[in-house]
Order: sequence, then C-alpha cells, then structure tokens
Amino acid sequence: MCGIVGYVGEEQATPVLLNALKKLEYRGYDSAGIAVLDSGRLTVRKAKGRLRVLEEKIATEVIRGHIGIGHTRWATHGEPSDVNSHPQTDVSGKIAVVHNGIIENYAKLKAWLESNGVEFRSETDTEVIAHLVNFNYNGDLLAAVIETIKKLEGSYAIGVICGNEPDRIVAARKDSPLVIGKGVHENLLASDVPALLEYTQDVYYLDDREIAVLYADRTEFYDDYGARREKQSVRVEWDISAAEKNGFEHFMRKEIHEQPAALANTLRTRIKTYAAKSINLEEIGFSPDWAKAGRVVITACGTAWHAGVVGKYVFEHFARVPVDVDIASEYRYREPILNPHDIFIIISQSGETADTLAAMRMAKTAGAKILAITNVVGSTLAREADLVMYTRAGPEIAVASTKAFTTQLVCLYLLAFQFGLLRGTISPERLETLIRELESLPDKAREILREESGIQRFAARQFNKDKVFFMGRLFDYAISLESALKLKEISYAHSEAFAAGELKHGPIALVDKGTLVVALCTQSALFDKMESNIKQVKARGASVLVLTYRDEERFNGSADAIFRIPRVPDELTPVLSVIPCQLFAYYCAIQRGHDPDKPRNLAKSVTVE
Ligand code: F6R
Repeated sequence: MCGIVGYVGEEQATPVLLNALKKLEYRGYDSAGIAVLDSGRLTVRKAKGRLRVLEEKIATEVIRGHIGIGHTRWATHGEPSDVNSHPQTDVSGKIAVVHNGIIENYAKLKAWLESNGVEFRSETDTEVIAHLVNFNYNGDLLAAVIETIKKLEGSYAIGVICGNEPDRIVAARKDSPLVIGKGVHENLLASDVPALLEYTQDVYYLDDREIAVLYADRTEFYDDYGARREKQSVRVEWDISAAEKNGFEHFMRKEIHEQPAALANTLRTRIKTYAAKSINLEEIGFSPDWAKAGRVVITACGTAWHAGVVGKYVFEHFARVPVDVDIASEYRYREPILNPHDIFIIISQSGETADTLAAMRMAKTAGAKILAITNVVGSTLAREADLVMYTRAGPEIAVASTKAFTTQLVCLYLLAFQFGLLRGTISPERLETLIRELESLPDKAREILREESGIQRFAARQFNKDKVFFMGRLFDYAISLESALKLKEISYAHSEAFAAGELKHGPIALVDKGTLVVALCTQSALFDKMESNIKQVKARGASVLVLTYRDEERFNGSADAIFRIPRVPDELTPVLSVIPCQLFAYYCAIQRGHDPDKPRNLAKSVTVE
C-alpha cells in the first residue's frame, strides 16, 4: 500500500524524506518519488522499483530545500513506471501532490479537465488532484485544496506543496490514514507512525475530512469548510527500536519472538489481582450491558478473520452466546440481518482495512454497538468504534501478521471470559483458573520459541513440498486456516486448510506422495478422529507432521515428525499452536529464497478494495 511522507523544517528535506520512506517500505510498493522546494523552485525525482533505485538516481545531484513530500507507490491506476510514480505535478509545474487511496470519480474529473485543455502525462488518478488544485488556485493553497477535495469521491490521503508558498505543506484525508509528527523547528507528515519515530514521538492523528497545514514552527488544523480546529497531540509509546529489527534478520522473525512480551502487554492492567483474580475492562469502557447481547457478530479480513473464527468458538464455548463470524468483504455486500441486540466485534491490526471499515460503518448505521480490537492507536477503526480494546502488540512491520494475531486472540479470550462471568456461564472460581492459564501463556510461548531450531530443521527437509495441507478440528481448524495462509503468503508454497472431518468430502483426492499434511492435534476429545485422519493421509503416501502437547504420547509413531507445545486447556491452544506454524512458514520462505518481510503482491495495510 502506498506511503506518504512530508517534511518542513530546518534540515535539508531530501535525506529526511528518503529515510522516512524507508520506514514505510513494509507497506509494499513498486515505485518511489520525492518533490522538494527551494526558494519556490520545485524539483521532482521519481523511479520505478525499490527506493534504492531512486537513491541511485539522485546520488550525483544535490537537491536542496527545507520542504518536501515523498511517496512509495503501490500501483492501482496505471502500471508501475517512472511517470506514474508520485509526486504528480500540475501543468504549471508549481504544484506537487502525493496521494494514497483511490479517486473513484477520476475518469469523470479527467474528462472535464481535458475538455478544459489539460493534457495528462500519467495514467494515475492522482494527477487529477494536481490539476484540480491548480485550477482552484488563487494565491492560497489551503483554499485550493479545500475546493479540490469537495470534488473528490473515494478515498484519499494527500500531501500538497506549491512553489508560490514555499513555507507550508497542505495535507488532507478521507478513508486513508495520515499522521502528523510534531518536532522542534520541524514538522512531518506520514501514512504511519514508524516513519516519524526517528524525529518525534508526539503525533496528531488526522481525522477524516480534516486538513492540516504544516509549517516549520507549527501545524494548523481545519475542517473541510476551512474553519480552524484545535487538536491535541498524542505521545506514541513505541520508540524507534521497536520499529526496527534489533539484530533479527527479518521483522517477521523479530515479531514472532516478541510474542511473549506482546501477550504479557495485552494482559497487563486487564487482570485484577487483589482478592480473587478477575478481569478488568474498565479501561475500555466496557459495561455489563454489552454482555446482554443476543448475538455477537465478528467481522474482519485475512488473519484477523481467523482470529474471529477462534473468537466464535471461544464465545460459544465460554459465554454460550451465538456468534456469527463474517469476512468483511462478504458481509458488506450481502444483505445481513441485523438485530438491535447484536453487538459487533471488529478485528483489524491496522484499523484501516477498507472492507473492515465498510462493514463496521454498515453495522453502525444500523444502530449496532461496535467493539474494535486493533493494534493501532488513533486508527480510523479505533476512532469510529464505540469501544476499543488495543492489542498492544507494538508496531507490526512484517506484512505477515504474527504478534497482532496472538494478541487479538488474548483480547477475545478476555472478552469471552468476562461475558461468561456476566452471563453466569463461568463461575468466579473457574474464571480464576482460566485467568491463571491466560497468564501462563507468555512463558509457554517463550518455551516454544526456545525450540525454534527443531522447526527450522524440519522446514529444511520439507520446504520443497508441492502441496501442504493443514487439518484440525475445532480450535485446531481455526489455526489450520491461519497456518496455511501464513505459509502461502510468504513461501508461495501451495497450502490449504480444511476441517479434518472434511477430508473424505474432497481434499483427500489431492493427497499423494508429494503432499505434506500438518495435523494439529490439541482437541483431546477428538484425538481418535484425528488419528484416523492421519492414517488415511499416510496410506496415500503423504508426509505427516503432528502438532500436539509436549506430554501427549498418543501420536508417537504415527507421524514423520512431531512439534510439541506446553499443555494448556484445549480451548486456549490457538495462542500457542500457531507459533510453530508461523516459524515453519518463516523458515520455508527462507529456504525457498524469499524475503519473508516483503511477500510479492501483498501489502501490509489494505486501505482500498
Ligand atoms: C496476513 C495478513 C492479512 C491481514 C488482513 C487484515 O498475514 O496480515 O491477511 O490480516 O489484510 O488486515 P488488518 O488486520 O490490518 O485489518
């Protein structure tokens, strides 16, 4: 997904812009560019490919100027090319624009501009914005941007500079994130916090339809009618080391290893330890009314949806409340039946996923109560939901989600346990036992990570398999879904997940000597069933890897290899069983020669459909 940066201040803008763009590389991109102003003269440099290509292109020239904007582009309109890269400029060559999002009415606007004599150079929707700003420009860039965004349909986060006003950047957003960094004698603009952390930890999260005007010594905020607004900055608790690799070769491995600390962070302050142990959700504003819900609807995409599948089993088991779990892109386009007593749990690491936000807004318009589980403070989801439970995983930079997933699970357990207590399906004594089990998860995750080399060795033997199937029942089925996704997105091995009971209803047709089957076996009541599934795939020549408890002897001898996890109640295994599968995906990607942090065709934050 595209990344925006902007700088105005005492430093030379070019190195700051390039450095900040590097921190946004994780979002995925196929070209990059910068525009810098020096005494009103605009210099624009762009290049297809990685940032390195842009850096090489400008290595021999000095681009001076204390104000500029930069962009990493992930192509949506027009192929990746130098000309389609951002910044895009207007006909006068004075105005430069960087843009994230999609302008849905761009064809209409383009036709109108062309009928007024404008010649387009690129295939981008963004070029329309540059020409419109020029068309509306009457000596005041802010007024021109306000007029321009009135005409735009779709989503946008934009940064605009103009040669006639070399002291300010105008930025605006709708349905695409934008953060302003408040520095000393400098101010910055970015799509995401990691780009700012080297310069400041004080940020302003721009709201939808809000406009920011950045000067070296201040930032002013306006609504989309041009009225001034006061805004408070927020201190980001992450520091720069949290957003960097800290000695790990890849962000993904670092983030897998951060899970024990992240899980402890998610639990921190949410458990009352005086007298009996209980759950404390006061911080999120949770009131007992929420637990009276007639139904819980969980909506999300990708990995977050897999957390939702676990959530369904957890809520139904512990709180005996009916749960529907929906993929957000399906939910928003069918005709879901909403009841006034439903509550919605919307899960999103980034809090910016377009389909997830659309589903949330549909539910909200219908009057439903929304509880968000997200990792990003100040994200659109966090701002629009009624209640927000932060996962507190710290920045997740690798495209493949790991620590965000396990911390989402812990949030769902905390909520389900509290629902159970309030609905009378969990006694205070059982709650205490369950809380102790939750509290043991960080240490147990640490134990699994200590056995990483075993998983690495197994991946070294199996990474070349044509097909990898993950199968399990109940909670193990949910983790099979997540494990298959992880493997395919970073190693590009063909991997699928299915409920083990479905084996005979189709998937077994594909099982042969070239197949690896990972059988997740942590649901004790169904061990017999899993054993017979394992026999069926082995009989067809598949290699089998079993994942089960450390002290479980049942599967000895029935598999080619066994990964073992510490024992927890069967309903809590997802938080642990996914960890070896994350590591397996990571090491398969490495063995296959792929960079796990930058999987092809994928972006970290999917802010368009
Ligand atoms: C997979 C992955 C994606 C995201 C999905 C939703 O590793 O990261 O499947 O889970 O795009 O993203 P968020 O959680 O930001 O809404």
